[in-house]
Amino acid sequence: MNIINDPLALQRTCLNWRSEGLVVGLVPTMGYFHAGHLSLMDYARSRADRLVVSLFVNPTQFGPNEDLSRYPRDPERDAALAREHGVDLLFTPEPGVMYAPDHATWVEVPTLARGLCAASRPVHFRGVATVVSKLFLLTLPGFAVFGEKDFQQLALIRRMVRDLNFPLEVVGRPIVREADGLALSSRNVNLTPEERRAAPAIRQGLLAAADWVRGGVRTSGELTTRLRAFYAERLPMSRLDYAEIVDPDSMEPLAEIPGRALLAVALHMSRARLIDNILLGD
Ligand code: PAF
Repeated sequence: MNIINDPLALQRTCLNWRSEGLVVGLVPTMGYFHAGHLSLMDYARSRADRLVVSLFVNPTQFGPNEDLSRYPRDPERDAALAREHGVDLLFTPEPGVMYAPDHATWVEVPTLARGLCAASRPVHFRGVATVVSKLFLLTLPGFAVFGEKDFQQLALIRRMVRDLNFPLEVVGRPIVREADGLALSSRNVNLTPEERRAAPAIRQGLLAAADWVRGGVRTSGELTTRLRAFYAERLPMSRLDYAEIVDPDSMEPLAEIPGRALLAVALHMSRARLIDNILLGD
């Protein structure tokens, strides 16, 4: 496995691969790998001639009061895991080489960056869309793989790729969970032991909501009222950021629950903000 931290060296390598007719698979990450990241790499490995993983804690997707400095990092362990999972090239740039001091160009997808996570993280999706565009242009992948835990991010990247005609396929892969149902996240290490014990209730609330829909609940208002009560009882140490029912493609809020809808939640614990989601009515 080759480790590269220079964007132009990455682009040269990927251009050569592309001109040889090889398909590059890209898995963009911010590192601190867990089984969710590794499942994305394994999927990409099974399809790609050359597998590129980027490991970059992108500063532009963190607001001033967010957890950039606390974001967990372990580059040596990450490199060893990437090697074990068949990665050909690990891209580990420093912020200074990704963003020139006079960087001035941003990619925005405003209609998909309105509610849900964007409401409390106003600069987040601009940073994500910009860095993902840069990674696409640096690696020229045939396909790129993202996890469905960040469902809004995935929908936004799909729209950006369609709107800007990036010549690649965006692949979404299922959420990987602990045995007790907690969605894997690099931020789970920031949970206190008490929060970690209670955190599976996040998923349990989503499953209960799916049951309420099967049992006849049809309005988002009733569903979220029930879910708020569930979390208040089972996760009293948390603060609900949002629980919303949206169209899974447009991320527009839905008042009624039609055939297919996404229920997405975000909760603040003392030192971590956790997200999860479930597709309803499929
Ligand atoms: O999902 C993430 O880890 C990040 O948002 C991404 C896509 C790597 C962009 O920095």
